[in-house]
Amino acid sequence: MKIAIIGTGMVGRGLAARLAGLGHDVVIGTRDVDVTLARTTPDGMGTPPYVQWQQENSNVRLVTLPEAGAHGEVVINAANGQNALAALEGVGAEPLAGKVLLDLALPLDLSKGLPPTLTISNTDSLGEQIQRAFPDARVVKSLNSVYYQVMIDPTRVPGPHSIFVAGDDSDAKSIVEGLLGEFGWPTESIIDLGDITGARGVEMYARLFFTLYNAFGTFDFNINVTRAN
Ligand SMILES: NC(=O)c1ccc[n+]([C@@H]2O[C@H](COP(=O)([O-])OP(=O)(O)OC[C@H]3O[C@@H](n4cnc5c(N)ncnc54)[C@H](OP(=O)(O)O)[C@@H]3O)[C@@H](O)[C@H]2O)c1
Repeated sequence: MKIAIIGTGMVGRGLAARLAGLGHDVVIGTRDVDVTLARTTPDGMGTPPYVQWQQENSNVRLVTLPEAGAHGEVVINAANGQNALAALEGVGAEPLAGKVLLDLALPLDLSKGLPPTLTISNTDSLGEQIQRAFPDARVVKSLNSVYYQVMIDPTRVPGPHSIFVAGDDSDAKSIVEGLLGEFGWPTESIIDLGDITGARGVEMYARLFFTLYNAFGTFDFNINVTRAN
């Protein structure tokens, strides 16, 4: 499948490498290819410069945001949550029309350290804002509730554990569930939260996620949702 990832950070890179390894035709979109490739020092979070990763992952092409939109049958939003709408505006509404838009971004304010606060919550979510901004895209919120290494390899966490999907388009959710299956998520671990308003709960879980990180000292964990029947 042709897949475009919006996000040159560690999450976008991790997904890109995994998807390319699975045989998908993957590009990563960035605002300015030359600027991104010219960086030679780690960013504020310590993520190594993109060019270093690119040398080890030459099967993934770095392209402009509109080129990424044109390429992807599925577009994955792995941009910074505060800037996700701006990044997707750079992609453009037209290339996104009719496409599956898998949104894994979190609207986090990390300016006061950990745990972060959410800039959108309760009666709205980033997933919904993206769906409203791009009404012809088929937005599916998923993967945002786990560490990016767990997203692409759920076996990092032993035993059964859950992953969520939310979105208005059933076919789009099926396509995302197919990708989750390729990453290794068993069908029974995938919980469909219904329409895109389900993004509220999984985004707000971020608060508990970071508290659990504080308690465990590792991001390699997840929750398992069980029910009586
Ligand atoms: N780390 C995890 O395990 C984890 C887990 C769940 C969810 N998430 C979510 O995954 C997403 C990606 O996280 P990350 O740490 O890899 O990346 P990040 O550092 O949060 O974001 C990097 C990306 O954001 C884009 N960006 C930054 N400022 C921008 C602006 N003003 N306008 C447009 N785009 C802008 C950058 O674009 P350029 O390439 O153009 O510079 C870059 O592609 C975040 O939303 C995060 O909340 C992360």
